[in-house]
Amino acid sequence: MANTTHSKLVNVFYNTHPISESQVLDKLAQTGADTSILTVELLQHHDQDHFGGLAATDALALHAKINESTHVLDLCCGLGGPARYLAYHYGCRVTGVDMNTDRLAGAVRLTERTKLQDRVLFHHANALQTGLADETFDVIVSQEAFCHIPNKKTLITECVRLLKPGGRIVYTDILARSSMTNEIRSRLETEMVFSELSTLEQYCHLLEEKGCQVIEVEDLSDNWAQILIDRLAMYRSLKEQTVSSFDLAHFQKWDRTYSFFVGLYRSGELGGGRFVAHKPKSI
Ligand SMILES: C[S@@+](CC[C@H](N)C(=O)[O-])C[C@H]1O[C@@H](n2cnc3c(N)ncnc32)[C@H](O)[C@@H]1O
Repeated sequence: MANTTHSKLVNVFYNTHPISESQVLDKLAQTGADTSILTVELLQHHDQDHFGGLAATDALALHAKINESTHVLDLCCGLGGPARYLAYHYGCRVTGVDMNTDRLAGAVRLTERTKLQDRVLFHHANALQTGLADETFDVIVSQEAFCHIPNKKTLITECVRLLKPGGRIVYTDILARSSMTNEIRSRLETEMVFSELSTLEQYCHLLEEKGCQVIEVEDLSDNWAQILIDRLAMYRSLKEQTVSSFDLAHFQKWDRTYSFFVGLYRSGELGGGRFVAHKPKSI
């Protein structure tokens, strides 16, 4: 079911991604922070790999109605930044799932160092087939990750299976807009490992087809265009660290790819959206 070649490509992409445990710790050290005592407050400005930073995670928490009694699944949790943030600031329990072994190992270590290991657990799996038990979670959240996953039908089916009846799925994702050409799709597949990008309408249709009620959808495309311009500048500011962790050729390749990606937001060919849906008590 899970496409192995594609999974390998996603793993290669994130193995060299600038938001990694070592680069986050280096960046903190450069700011003069004492990294021997790590706190969520210290980490949270550096360990979130999505658009809109902490405010975006707060928006998910609000829409999902997360509180101390919520068990959250963060699907494709990356380095675990949003998982720790939610547990620390909202008091919930979080299970983070990701298929990248290095990122997940970093997530576990950073979580132990921030003493959240009792409330934040990690599970190594492909989101298409997590192996977790049916109806485990009150809430599923995800940020900017479903874009990598082929077969959105299987993905949403897995989410619905994992959600308790009455639970909510709240996620943001990178979206195709109607004007996108096949040539651009294929370049995004090769360079960003995006797979079968969905449109806003396709996600709404799919959620409803799988028995969910779509409560709210927000088109974030314009908002993200500016965020991405700033993010490109942020990656460029990490040049020295990226070159020392990898090499100049790696930095230049990443810079070319990310500039192309950001350009598609400027031209309106890529977009973004937030989806808030509810699994009825009986489907
Ligand atoms: C842009 S990062 C987002 C990380 C996290 N949501 C955050 O906001 O910090 C995307 C993550 O999705 C993970 N991912 C992509 N495809 C996946 C899949 N099929 N199953 C599990 N994880 C996946 C990648 O390994 C990566 O860590």
